[in-house]
Formats: sequence, structure tokens, C-alpha cells
Amino acid sequence: MNNTTPKLLFVDQEQQTLQILQKLLLSEDWDCAFVSSAAEALDFLQTKPCDMMISDVQTARTADVHLFDEIHTHYPKIIRIYLSTYSNRDSIAKILSEGYGQQIIPKPWVDQELKEVIRSAIRQSHQQKKHSDEFQALINSIPLLPSLPESYSNVRSCIVGDEIDIEKMSIFISQDVAIASALLHWANSALFGQRFQVDTLKKAIVVLGTDIVENLILSESVNRTIASELPEIDGFSFKRFKKHSIATAILSRLLIKSILPTDSIQHDRAFVAGLLHDMGKLAMASFFPKQFEEAIKMATDKKCPLPTSEIDILGTQHAEFGSFLAEWWALPPFISNAICWHHHPHSSSIDQDIIAAAHVANLLSYQFGYGSNGETYQREILDEYQTRFYLTDEATEILRAETVKTIQGLTTS
Ligand SMILES: [Fe+2]
Ligand SMILES: [Fe+2]
Repeated sequence: MNNTTPKLLFVDQEQQTLQILQKLLLSEDWDCAFVSSAAEALDFLQTKPCDMMISDVQTARTADVHLFDEIHTHYPKIIRIYLSTYSNRDSIAKILSEGYGQQIIPKPWVDQELKEVIRSAIRQSHQQKKHSDEFQALINSIPLLPSLPESYSNVRSCIVGDEIDIEKMSIFISQDVAIASALLHWANSALFGQRFQVDTLKKAIVVLGTDIVENLILSESVNRTIASELPEIDGFSFKRFKKHSIATAILSRLLIKSILPTDSIQHDRAFVAGLLHDMGKLAMASFFPKQFEEAIKMATDKKCPLPTSEIDILGTQHAEFGSFLAEWWALPPFISNAICWHHHPHSSSIDQDIIAAAHVANLLSYQFGYGSNGETYQREILDEYQTRFYLTDEATEILRAETVKTIQGLTTS
């Protein structure tokens, strides 16, 4: 055991349950402690560090102590998981909505499932430690972070090294009408230089290339995962968000093409960086709608940058939040870097071309009128970047025309 070994505390009034858990977890490289009451758990925490508490619902809620309320208030960095029998299910919704517990494991549990939930929570805890205490507490106030849908992992499974099973990939994609039609639209768009009609998914995969296909599906999966139940927020619209992301992706690809005309890998990377650069906004809108709405209002009223008001109200800003999620989903590092630094490209020492392209593309897409979503404060494109991407007035007009044409093609075809 060392400092990075996850520290888990199990709480259950039934000794037999604790013994079963102890035996089950013996083979894992986790530092597990077991106590049989809420009071004992609180005593334990006074002297020992803990990353995660897994407690039986009834043991956690006695007449005197509401264990998870205490943990939530005094140890917000500890991840909280409930173990609960089916008969307690009426109180489960309430527990989750109170925000005290972040995940529920049913009793009796399936051994593999229990370990998987704990492993997933350990990953979350490790990642949180790289951020400020305030950020950790914020992440801990939301339920366990969601996983990306199967459609994304299915498509990824068709790519092994340099080998791609296009037949299998097109079958997976065809099961999702929205994704299939989006891919056909992109394959027929001017952006990918297609002169002939692309009418089948197999042709679309060949025209776009598997990287772009994978990234478009990734972006769709991210949007669905985060925004499945997006509440109404004053000053924020999902439609505008999507348009802004698509415009930024198009521009990002065109910009990097102007400085690296033959590097198709960088073209594809810049495209996905543009698509996902603001996903932290979508996550804030979904997980913290009230605070995000307040941040938008503050940015509008004070005419300040949205990240400034986000930090004031939520203690973090969408670039940090989005890059945290990208790391949580184990997306390629250039994506989390581009998300993290798209407002401050100077601060990153790696992936500079992609980050600079996403940065300028973001500003141009606002300039071209693609969605404000709270960012009413207009930032200028620094001279340095104007020079780097050859942004003369004439070149900017060409970029505007290409973006408008591509977006129109996508939304009207
Ligand atoms: Fe942004
Ligand atoms: Fe943006």
C-alpha cells in the first residue's frame, strides 16, 4: 500500500455483510476499513483519510446521525455510495435528489458489478485530486459521472491498429438514424471536398475517413450523454450551442489546413477539438443549471467574459470542467488539452497548433454570428494569431463564406 492506494470505508450494521465484503475485496489493491455504525464511521474519519464511503442506507440514517449529510457537509471530497435493499427503493430517489449519495448499489449485489462501480468511482477520485479543493467538492456534488454510450465503443471496436472493418462499422452506424444521416450530410458537404453524391454509409466512411467518423460519433455521444435531460436555461440554447460547435469545428479545420496543408491527421484533430471545445458549458448547463444561468446573467449584466462569472459562481469555468470530463472518458490527450486551453492558448506547451486553431476558430465563429450562449463579451483575435493563420480581411471573408455554405448544407440537406 502507498499514498495513492485508494482508501475505502465500508459501513454496515450487519457483521455478516462486512465479513462477506472483506473476503470479496481481499484480492483488490485497495485499503479497506470496515465499521458497523454511523458513529464509528465519523470517529474513524477524524483520524484517518478516506477517498470513498460505501454504506448501507439504514446504517447511515439513525435517529441521531445522518451519516451522508455529515460527510457531504464536512468531508465533501469523499465519494459517497449507498448499499440498499430493494425494499428501500422509495427512499432512494429522495436520497439521490438530496445529493447526499452519489451512487446506489443494490443489495444483494452482483460481485463484479459492485467492484466495477467502486473502480469507476476510484478513477473519478484520482482525477479529482489533480484539481482544487473547490473543484473536487463541486464534482462530488453531482451523481457519479455518466459513461459514454455503447454506440461509441461499438464504432471504436471496429478499428484495430490500422485495420478498419468498414462493413461492421457501417452496420453499427446504421442502427442509429440520427448519426447515420449526420454522417451522410458531412460526407456530402463541401468541407470534405466531395464532388459526387455520397449515398451509402460505406462510401461516407471512406470519404470522411475513420478518424472523422469516430470523432463525429464521439461528439454526438458526448452531447447525448451530457444533455439527455437539459433543463430550460435563460440565455442558453442547445441548438445555438450545436451551431457554434459545428462552426468552430469547420473553421478550426480550415485554419490548420492553411498552415499545415498536407497534414491530414492534424486537420482531423483540429476538427474534433473545435467540435468539443465548449462541452464544459453543456455539462454545466446539465449538472448545475441554476448556477450556470446565474453566470450567464452576470456575464451579460457586467459585460464580463463568461469564464469570469462562472468562476465567481461555480468556482471553476467551462474549459476546466470540460477537460476534466474529457479525461474522465479517457479521450485522447489533445482533445482535453484543446478544451482546457481554448481561451488561453499561450498557457499550453503541447498541441499548440491545434489549440491555436480552436482558439481562433472559436472567436471567428462568434464574429460570424454563430451562437453567443452567454459570451456577449467580444475578444479580439491577437495580431500574433492573425499573422500565424494569414487572416487578412480577404481571407477572413473566404472563411466566413465557406463556413456559411457548409453549415447551410448540413442543416438544409
Ligand atoms: Fe469557451
Ligand atoms: Fe466556444
